[in-house]
Amino acid sequence: MSFRLVVLVSGSGTNLQALLDATADEAFGARVVAVGADRDGIEGLARAERAGVPTFVRKVSDHSGREAWDEALAEQIAEFKPDLVVSAGFMKILGPRVLGMFPVVNTHPALLPSFPGAHAVRDALSYGVRLTGCTVHLVDSGVDTGPVIAQEAVAVREGDDEDSLHERIKDVERGLLVEIVGRMARYGWTVSGRTVRLGGEQGGEYDDHDDLGRDLRNQEDTHRP
Ligand code: GRF
Repeated sequence: MSFRLVVLVSGSGTNLQALLDATADEAFGARVVAVGADRDGIEGLARAERAGVPTFVRKVSDHSGREAWDEALAEQIAEFKPDLVVSAGFMKILGPRVLGMFPVVNTHPALLPSFPGAHAVRDALSYGVRLTGCTVHLVDSGVDTGPVIAQEAVAVREGDDEDSLHERIKDVERGLLVEIVGRMARYGWTVSGRTVRLGGEQGGEYDDHDDLGRDLRNQEDTHRP
């Protein structure tokens, strides 16, 4: 049985599309079982519908507050029994209920811990950095503060504006997200403090020990496929 992904989106869903395309190949080891959003009428939901993937929308404004929304979102996600939730351009901070029930990865268009938050590309440009990029990380209760899984750099070019830079970052981001989610699905992962180790990183073998030689096999935060 293949590894189950629920993907959360708020916009155009090109990262979702990259995952949908990758999961069309069974060897990828995962499939998208549902796509959720915090708003209607977005291209991300249309992409899921075209791919025949079930969708759901949970808007904060339909609930009495963040807590009730978090509860409703968790319940809805749980119906699809995901092994991993992927926040791919989902523009809401996930609450404790969702985060307590499922491992969640997020993709962010900057090299964290620089430029967290909703305007990462704009903030990096106005700071004047020459190098930015993207980060795939595990989600914790903070804003883009969870343990980093992988990062890739993108150079800022003379004359870049927010859109041109974001498009180049997204080109790289889609590939990185697909690669990391695929490896998590096929090989599992281990979290030790802020270090995330993907199985298969050590010459294709699942690594049962951390850098200090400690046995990770019975550790709570070891996720086997
Ligand atoms: C990505 O750059 C993501 O990191 C950011 O919003 C963008 C979403 O793009 N939070 P898309 O909806 O996947 O095309």
